[in-house]
Amino acid sequence: IVNSTVGDAKKRQMDGFTIDQNEKTPLTTYFGTKVSETDIALRAGARGPTVLEDFHNREKISHFDHERIPERVVHARGAGAFGEFKLHTPLTGLTTAHILTDTSKITPAYVRFSTVGGSRGSADSVRDPRGFAARFYTDEGNWDLVGNNMPVFFIQDAIKFPDLIHAVKPEPHNEIPQAQTAHDNAWDFMGLHPQSTHMQQWAMSDRGIPRSFRHMQGFGVHTFRLLDADGKSTFVKYHWTPHLGTHSLVWDEALKLAGQDPDFHRRDLWDAIEAGAYPKWELGVQLVKEEDEHKFDFDLLDSTKLIPEDLVPVKNIGTLTLNRNPVDYFAEVEQVAFCTQHIVPGMDFTNDPLLAGRNFSYQDTQISRLGVNFGDIPVNRPVCPFMTNQRDGQGTMFSKSNRQAYHPNRFDILPTTEPAKGGFRSYPEVVSGIKERMHGPKFNEFVSQAQLFYNSMSEPEKQHIISAYQFELSKCYETIVQQNAINRINLIDHDLALAVASSLSDIKVPDAVPNHGQKSEFLSQVTGKNQTFT
Ligand code: HEM
Repeated sequence: IVNSTVGDAKKRQMDGFTIDQNEKTPLTTYFGTKVSETDIALRAGARGPTVLEDFHNREKISHFDHERIPERVVHARGAGAFGEFKLHTPLTGLTTAHILTDTSKITPAYVRFSTVGGSRGSADSVRDPRGFAARFYTDEGNWDLVGNNMPVFFIQDAIKFPDLIHAVKPEPHNEIPQAQTAHDNAWDFMGLHPQSTHMQQWAMSDRGIPRSFRHMQGFGVHTFRLLDADGKSTFVKYHWTPHLGTHSLVWDEALKLAGQDPDFHRRDLWDAIEAGAYPKWELGVQLVKEEDEHKFDFDLLDSTKLIPEDLVPVKNIGTLTLNRNPVDYFAEVEQVAFCTQHIVPGMDFTNDPLLAGRNFSYQDTQISRLGVNFGDIPVNRPVCPFMTNQRDGQGTMFSKSNRQAYHPNRFDILPTTEPAKGGFRSYPEVVSGIKERMHGPKFNEFVSQAQLFYNSMSEPEKQHIISAYQFELSKCYETIVQQNAINRINLIDHDLALAVASSLSDIKVPDAVPNHGQKSEFLSQVTGKNQTFT
């Protein structure tokens, strides 16, 4: 089943963890005792009670009883595949990260695609953002680029994430609907959160129903940093562009597929890889010099905004190829644990408050989902040598041959007073400020990029957005929720609000929004027009 990839260190490592079980191996207990009978439990007489003594029966049932682990609190439904990343255009001088500077390397990679809101068994073709979580098993440690198929997010600050997810997940009283935002709580949230306006446009557009994982773009969303050998920083946004082009389903197809083949996307990825039609993506970067940080009329730390490509073009630097299906879904897809905090030397974070929360959240949730030793699980292990002072904990898988588990110690090869050469170092950013619950002033503009998005759509695409809103809002029971949503849509485009509202009862579309006189610099640069937005 497994296609071999020359030089794939991750495959070699995983092979070492694959238990070769087939029909020729006699059935044994977990601990190796050959079993003579597995269909009938040990009983005191053919019609008598089943006896406790039957350790095989107890082991079989007991293991089954504990087969389920908590599904991911979001992105529960997904599919993954292994592959490789090859850099073709090095970012020499901008970063020391080998994966972004050394074109001779082939780096083993892994991607898990997912929906966001639905449970593990929900349908693939629902309207939702898609996760695009990529892992690079670099020779300097794992780099996880945990992105989505949309370049922006619903919220600006991770403290809002529990609110967002509680609102968009099935309603608490009746657990309806299974996997969609077409319900009162979701639209109540969006109506009351201006910051969701831009992402809402992406979700209601054809981007919300991709044709397949192979036809999806991906985005790191946040602004990250690259660091050169002297610690100089360049801002970077990451983009994935599929070689097959970006394509979507139409809503009617999405609805039918949800019934006919709820595994449509998962199957498509699996079948393509089995057939040797390996999907490929270009990794692109948008680079912004440190000194240009404040040149935009949006904040680079605001994940509800993108950097228009007209202002900062995307430069493709390498190719990702997915060429190997997992051997065991649970072991290699359910148990993969991405963390945004997994970066390598030559990279760093910015102060994006959404990213800061994610850097805490992923590892935290994985401790309850997989246990504190989730790093020992083969799919999560780096391929480079690693040495930590961690020890013990549930699920410890390996015996460590050394005795040191503290620092400093008499065995240490590292100097104890200064960081190891080539080790990870944070960007020495100067920070000062009053401790307060505040965002920068540019965080308060929510509409201009939503308008940019809507105005860039063709007429059929606009019609799809109108239909999507009509469908979603028709599922809301409460007029106040629909009205708030229409008020918000009206800020994007008055005609859009009129069109959506035409299918709803008892909704009043407010007047077209007057010009507030706020000039949008980047929009005027992009469109050549001076536009004003609220
Ligand atoms: C899972 C993307 C924001 C918490 C995921 C996954 C993706 C993703 C792709 C699935 C990972 C996998 O395949 O295993 C994003 C993006 C975000 C975002 C692009 C915004 C730019 C957040 C925030 C939080 C969060 C703000 C929390 C404060 C989680 C958690 C999981 C998850 C807890 C489940 C992880 C697991 O159980 O392994 N996210 N997310 N995410 N995300 Fe996010």
